[in-house]
Amino acid sequence: MLKKMIYTIFRKFIFISLFYSVLLSKFPDAIGYNGMVVSSNEYASNVGIDILKKGGNAIDAAIGVSFALAVVHPGAGNIGGGGFMVIRTSDGKVSTIDFREKAPSKASKDMFLDDSLNVIPGKSWSTSLATGVPGSVAGMWLAHQKYGSVNWADIVRPSVKLAQYGFNLDPLNCSYLNSEYYKNLLSNDIEAKKIFTKSTNFKIGETFIQTDLANTLRRIAFNGYKGFYEGETAKNIVKCMDRTGGIISEQDLKNYKAIERAPIEFDYNGYKVYSMPPPSSGGVALAGILNQLENVNFDSITYHSADYIHLIVEAERNVYADRSVYLGDSDFNDIAIDELISDNYNNSRWNEVDLLNARKSNEVKEGNIIYNESEETTHYSVVDKWGNAVSVTTTVNGWFGNGIVVDDSGFLLNNEMDDFSSKPGHPNKYGLVGNVLNSIEPNKRMLSSMSPTIVENPEGELFLVVGSPGGSTIITTVAQVILNVINQNMSIKDAVEQSRFHHQWLPDIVYFEPLNFSKETLNSLKNMGHNLSYRRSIGEANCIKIDYLDDLDKQKGYIFSGAADSRRGASAKSY
Ligand code: DON
Repeated sequence: MLKKMIYTIFRKFIFISLFYSVLLSKFPDAIGYNGMVVSSNEYASNVGIDILKKGGNAIDAAIGVSFALAVVHPGAGNIGGGGFMVIRTSDGKVSTIDFREKAPSKASKDMFLDDSLNVIPGKSWSTSLATGVPGSVAGMWLAHQKYGSVNWADIVRPSVKLAQYGFNLDPLNCSYLNSEYYKNLLSNDIEAKKIFTKSTNFKIGETFIQTDLANTLRRIAFNGYKGFYEGETAKNIVKCMDRTGGIISEQDLKNYKAIERAPIEFDYNGYKVYSMPPPSSGGVALAGILNQLENVNFDSITYHSADYIHLIVEAERNVYADRSVYLGDSDFNDIAIDELISDNYNNSRWNEVDLLNARKSNEVKEGNIIYNESEETTHYSVVDKWGNAVSVTTTVNGWFGNGIVVDDSGFLLNNEMDDFSSKPGHPNKYGLVGNVLNSIEPNKRMLSSMSPTIVENPEGELFLVVGSPGGSTIITTVAQVILNVINQNMSIKDAVEQSRFHHQWLPDIVYFEPLNFSKETLNSLKNMGHNLSYRRSIGEANCIKIDYLDDLDKQKGYIFSGAADSRRGASAKSY
């Protein structure tokens, strides 16, 4: 009894000190002791929290959130796309689930080129050929088979309800659905038009019902992954392909497998970082940036000064040059992962950096590695009371994917084929260039930048669950959030809300969010030789930081602090 009282007082004391320690910084959007979900939409975060409260673990909750996002956040949440999940279980083991889309078996290297071998504009973006074989349902199924603890149907059912009985549209959904660009995109397809457009504007708070999607989700709830890859849904996907000139076959769907892969793992200043391996470039690129930056003494450089930005930009320049040459699907190519993430290699790359002046990207080449030539996204973070943590980034690529909805099934298809290198050196929608390792081949996974990441503190305990959407800016967003927390000692909310900058080798431009960078800083960067440009907003980092409180019974107590990135109106929920 006395022990309990002392513990309660101690717990309050820790909470109050935490409160005061962050008084000067932004307060988290949620604090919890038992579980937390930070996602792009309040309904989805609530679905996750309900699953946790009913005894599900973080993996169960993450699966529930994924299906809910497919209903309430249709621009990026999906069952017609793919993504990546990083899982750290309470015993400290880390693994990843790759549910990235695959090129259909009828895909070919030059499928987006004309007879003169020029890239046909838009063909890899807004046509049915832009769609890769979806991976999301298989990914959720595999995560559940291996790590789930409650009944699959109970996890999917809340999303069936959201689709069947509707949810209230938030400002973000309304602004996209009412914009001319997306109205046009969604009007091009008869099935999408029926669901996502109407003669008047969508109103904030209006109930949005998706009956076809509810039926599809019901099939998935009852039949597991087969409810998507076989039977009626699979038939409808093929029917849609026939209607729109696509090439995904029934066999492609049947053959799709999500894959469990070992994470990319590296140390940064005593912290251990786990992130996504190929076919994402995320983990390798993050390791490259942070391992080069271990050479910088950030204590002696003013945060967001020209020197600070310059050094990070130069590390990014090296890494994105390497990305364009050395990364692709590791099931199709030998990828020199160990070398690319090593301290030795990154120290040698760092030695090429001019500490005072910008280098020109066309003079910066990939590093020297021998390889065998054999050849609008959403991020959410989940933690539970046992200390399991899940970091998921998932996408249909462009907002609303290619704008095509599967016949009688109510879900949008991805346009992920654009993440392949349609032609060596030709930039994709995100300005990224690639080469043969990321060329189109049947059944190959396209290279991604998605970087769901989990960080352990120097004691080996769970510390951060981070990630972001944003195409090519995902990697640099995740790197900046980690740097803000580790090097600048910021609260998670501050780390997420700080203005961001981004450089990706080509185009040779440093992009800035418009606020908070002074004229003097930008002028100094110009004088160093950097080309600068503004970008309205970079990423949406929905992250969790974990602090500890030592229970007198020697059981760890968690304090979860959640940051829902205000750039897109995300939602952090806890209990
Ligand atoms: O996998 C990738 O890297 C891209 N398809 C991600 C697209 C994305 O983040 C769009 N969201 N804003």
